[in-house]
Amino acid sequence: MGKGFLDNSARECDPATNLARPVRKKPTMSTISSLFVTRLYKAALSDHGAVDVAELEASCLSIAEDDEAGQDWCEENGYPGYTSYASLTDLPWRFPIFEQVKAALDKHVAAFAEDLAFDLEGRALKLEDMWINILPEGGIHTSHIHPHSVISGTTYVAMPEGTSALRLEDPRSAMMMAAPARRKDAPEELRTFVYVKPVVGEVLLWESWLRHEVPMNMAEDDRISVSFNYSWG
Ligand SMILES: [Fe+2]
Repeated sequence: MGKGFLDNSARECDPATNLARPVRKKPTMSTISSLFVTRLYKAALSDHGAVDVAELEASCLSIAEDDEAGQDWCEENGYPGYTSYASLTDLPWRFPIFEQVKAALDKHVAAFAEDLAFDLEGRALKLEDMWINILPEGGIHTSHIHPHSVISGTTYVAMPEGTSALRLEDPRSAMMMAAPARRKDAPEELRTFVYVKPVVGEVLLWESWLRHEVPMNMAEDDRISVSFNYSWG
């Protein structure tokens, strides 16, 4: 810390002039704080209500096989593998297993909102969308954010050995005009990119503005996950 500062509320007598003068406080010890923190929530999906992940995997695969509109959309848009994002907007209402996922997620999201100290003014965060992602070998989901939502996340259904982690990016990268790169051994909270390797049955939540991507799936088997957005309103 630099020099001490003047406290105008406390005064002492100046022996030279006999006039009152502010007391100069002693400098405090050095401290460094972390401000404007980015929170990442990780938990077992079943911590808030049991969900049979094997049944969820079987449902994802059978929905992908039957959803021709979704398959067409993936082909037309060059999406590797399958997503139900553009074709099925009501998974929890169509399939009981997704209703169970929603019930569990509602509780995880409420817990995360509490951690984030959100003042929700009595209105809960609500599920807006939920969709299946099946990423084959060589598939990639490039860097993106989830506009118009508050909390986004993914629960992991099949994560074969060697498949991609989730890559999260420091939201301030656009402001780093002249900053040096971070050392490779920088503490996780100071890194520009953080790779998180979730396991099957886990759920990750983050604020929807946090940029993320799924690097190329180098495993032979499909990487299967279910993603979602929660909004407030
Ligand atoms: Fe995403």
